[in-house]
Amino acid sequence: MNENHYSQAARYIQNKIGEAPEIGLILGSGLGVLADEIENAVKMPYEEIPGFPVSTVEGHAGQLVYGTLKGARVIAMQGRFHFYEGYDMQKVVFPVRVLQQIGIKTLIVTNAAGGINEQFQPGDLMLITDHINNMGTNPLIGPNEEQFGVRFPDLSQAYSRKLLELARETAAEIGVPVREGVYVANTGPVYETPAEIRMLRTWGGDAVGMSTVPEVVTARHAGLDVLGISCISNMAAGILDQPLSHDEVIETTEKVKSSFLSLVKETIAKIAKA
Ligand code: 6GU
Repeated sequence: MNENHYSQAARYIQNKIGEAPEIGLILGSGLGVLADEIENAVKMPYEEIPGFPVSTVEGHAGQLVYGTLKGARVIAMQGRFHFYEGYDMQKVVFPVRVLQQIGIKTLIVTNAAGGINEQFQPGDLMLITDHINNMGTNPLIGPNEEQFGVRFPDLSQAYSRKLLELARETAAEIGVPVREGVYVANTGPVYETPAEIRMLRTWGGDAVGMSTVPEVVTARHAGLDVLGISCISNMAAGILDQPLSHDEVIETTEKVKSSFLSLVKETIAKIAKA
């Protein structure tokens, strides 16, 4: 992946949309419906964009959607690329760099995650306060791409305190209860064992998933402000006496759709005004 690949994709998108977006959105499993709310939408299937990987997982449409949401110019990834699909990290984070090149300043990342914190319940929304990269690799390994950022990026505030505060305020105003906590990223595609979940709990993890951290690391490297929101789609292994399934993930995200949509949309409205 070199500078040229990013700028080729960026140029393709810029030609389609005209104006630069302010906010990028990455929509997780079952949460892609948010893109349907975007007004005057310009849709760009991933396979049309030069250099873009193509997504393979069910429940992911695989397109960029540009338009306005609550008065803000946004560009959403409806479907993301997961490490477990076999993409290397460079591919997983390629879109983040392209979005940065076309001018976004803020990235909102969303995902479906398993609850590690025993106070949580399926259907809870969790503002991500911090993360643990347990993927055993990092998208910034390799020669540093100086045009994006420094060799040794600081992650002491990976998730913007200001955006967290805006999201918290928004949640209170619209009456959507939110949790807060630490997101742990594993590679997947297996869900964890109960022993692994006990370990992650002692580490300070509140929720676990198979995404988000690579994109956030890349976004922070490039100086973007990040807001992360997890939908707790199920409890992690060993908490309830029941097996985990992707069907449950989709079912729960379906149920919390309306509160998730309001939270993200109203937070965007606040960001646009701030
Ligand atoms: Cl329990 N684990 C992981 N790794 N990802 C998930 C999940 C659990 N639930 C939803 N996504």
